Amino acid sequence: MTERTLAILKPDCVRKNAAGEVIARIEKAGFTILGMKMIRLTRETAGGFYAVHRERPFFNDLVTFMSSGRCVPIVLAKENAVADFRKLIGATDPKEAVPGTIRKDFASSKGENIIHGSDSAENARIEIGYFFPEKELVQNS
Ligand code: RTP
Ligand code: MG
Repeated sequence: MTERTLAILKPDCVRKNAAGEVIARIEKAGFTILGMKMIRLTRETAGGFYAVHRERPFFNDLVTFMSSGRCVPIVLAKENAVADFRKLIGATDPKEAVPGTIRKDFASSKGENIIHGSDSAENARIEIGYFFPEKELVQNS
């Protein structure tokens, strides 16, 4: 069954002018882009998006980083999209990521790791709704 997932090209990706290359990799891996926009998150929006991590020691740094510049949320569709996309981006820490993954090839640290990917179909649904009204996506299908 076709599944959706949410990607975000993080501010380090946009600053490195790597958005185009990363999107090309995503397309070559067979994902269809259903929605995409460039926005700058506020601290409040970034903190809301990663609210599950609010008690973690890295939360403040994460919010500062995610609100530090423009980012690109992207809605993707594919068979098995959530798991396949996590495989394509690689481990959270680029040092631990498998060669050929996006984080291994583009990211500089565990905190600044280029790209986000939803970790479950249910979280994907919630995260997509955070950035894209459903009618925008249906009209693009
Ligand atoms: P994401 O949600 O962005 O796709 O990343 P993930 O699932 O691979 O990792 P997660 O545990 O959800 O952490 C969210 C983001 O917080 C930053 N982080 N920094 N310095 C640290 O120890 C640390 N740990 C996590 C990263 O930006 C990570 O992607
Ligand atoms: Mg995560």
